[in-house]
Amino acid sequence: MMNIETPARSPATAAAAVRAHALKVVRGRRTVLRELTFTVPRGQITGLLGPSGCGKSTLMRAVVGTQAKVTGTLHVLDHPAGTPALRSRIGYVTQDPSVYADLTVRQNLDYFAAVLTPGRGPAAARRREDVTRAIADVDLTSHADALAGDLSGGQRNRVSLAVALLGAPELLVLDEPTVGLDPVLRRDLWHLFHTLSAERGTTILVSSHVMDEAERCHRLLLMREGEILADDTPDALRDRTGSHTVEEAFLHLVDEANAARPHRGREPQLP
Ligand SMILES: Nc1ncnc2c1ncn2[C@@H]1O[C@H](COP(=O)(O)OP(=O)(O)OP(=O)(O)O)[C@@H](O)[C@H]1O
Ligand SMILES: [Mg+2]
Repeated sequence: MMNIETPARSPATAAAAVRAHALKVVRGRRTVLRELTFTVPRGQITGLLGPSGCGKSTLMRAVVGTQAKVTGTLHVLDHPAGTPALRSRIGYVTQDPSVYADLTVRQNLDYFAAVLTPGRGPAAARRREDVTRAIADVDLTSHADALAGDLSGGQRNRVSLAVALLGAPELLVLDEPTVGLDPVLRRDLWHLFHTLSAERGTTILVSSHVMDEAERCHRLLLMREGEILADDTPDALRDRTGSHTVEEAFLHLVDEANAARPHRGREPQLP
């Protein structure tokens, strides 16, 4: 099933796929990410959770190297974020992904595969295999020859995911991939994420603002207003806050943060 070579990793680099220190993004007068320090371990599924506007997409753009005005240190797969050599090693699906409506599913994938790994002969044969595998991964084999424009919204999203899976990337960055999907498709997609992480060692950074998806992640980064409230496993978070669910734990942490710094993020208070 797999045509992926696992690169040898030294113990020193095996631990983290993403290492951020004092990562800051300022847009205009607004500090969107407030000096974040965190790591994303390799081979695991890390969920990036938090309410709308807290900075999830901004953080993901920083990781894939498309965000402007980033300061601090950010290393991705042991290179500074945005290094051209990382392009083929990261698969990224944006929050509003687009595919070509007038091409079929397979033609879309063929096009992106040719951009990713140009070349004729053996390279073209490998691309064909890669495309067929990616279409199967997202369960669209029976729709491979349908025009993308004729697919449902959820199916179109899966075409974008298939594009991100081309070339078997080591790191997948998925911005709210399950929005608008029915429960069965959501479950299937999470099953795919777990297969990718368990069988191919793929690192997955996936955002959501649906807290029940948190339970499916190995680790969580809980965000609020440009800050990381917690960086832990779902179990540890629940235990630490005496909560039954991650949602309850998140609310507990928000209350705790408000109690500690009621005016955080506002103008300095005059004496
Ligand atoms: N170009 C920009 N100029 C100014 N502010 C911006 C810009 N882009 C984003 N922001 C602000 O940065 C904050 C974080 O936005 P971001 O899109 O990262 O949030 P998010 O957590 O992904 O939200 P959602 O769940 O709605 O997708 C928001 O308050 C947004 O208004
Ligand atoms: Mg977003």
